[in-house]
Amino acid sequence: MKKVFIVLGISLVIAACGGPKPGESEGGDTTTATNSAAKAAEPNVDTAVNKIGTDAPASATAKGASLIAGADCTTCHKDHQKIVGPAFADIAKKYTAADEEKLAKKVIAGGSGNWGDIAMSPHPAIKLEDAKEMVKYILSVK
Ligand code: HEC
Repeated sequence: MKKVFIVLGISLVIAACGGPKPGESEGGDTTTATNSAAKAAEPNVDTAVNKIGTDAPASATAKGASLIAGADCTTCHKDHQKIVGPAFADIAKKYTAADEEKLAKKVIAGGSGNWGDIAMSPHPAIKLEDAKEMVKYILSVK
């Protein structure tokens, strides 16, 4: 019986000694996995934060700019050059944000008188909200 206990004891010691080795390497694996996961997550978080930061100021007028690009406005208007209609930069000098609604309605109704005898064509298909976005962009042109 004693021999059996000794054998059992030895095998327990072996098991105990063998135990920590895979345990250690397992621990190492877990740490490595956590680190690489953390490394993978960090740049994503940073990039997202940076993107939000850089996009925010431009987006206030970006919608209006793309609406203008999709309409016929640029046939008669340019940012810094008078064509048929006044340059957007000149319109921005003449008006303030308080005129936004009035100008949006003028874009929809068309007409002349504020810059001369040439009339702006009416744009009845443009929604007031969209016209306001366009005017917001126009008033931001410097
Ligand atoms: C057919 C040419 C033409 C097109 C197309 C045109 N405009 Fe005009 N726009 C004019 C003219 C001409 C004036 C000057 C009107 C005046 O003297 O009151 C003007 C004036 C304006 C003004 C100033 C209005 C005021 O009372 O001072 C804004 C704002 C404007 N246009 C925006 C736009 C936008 C936005 C579009 C596209 C949806 C557009 N225009 C398309 C010719 C055009």
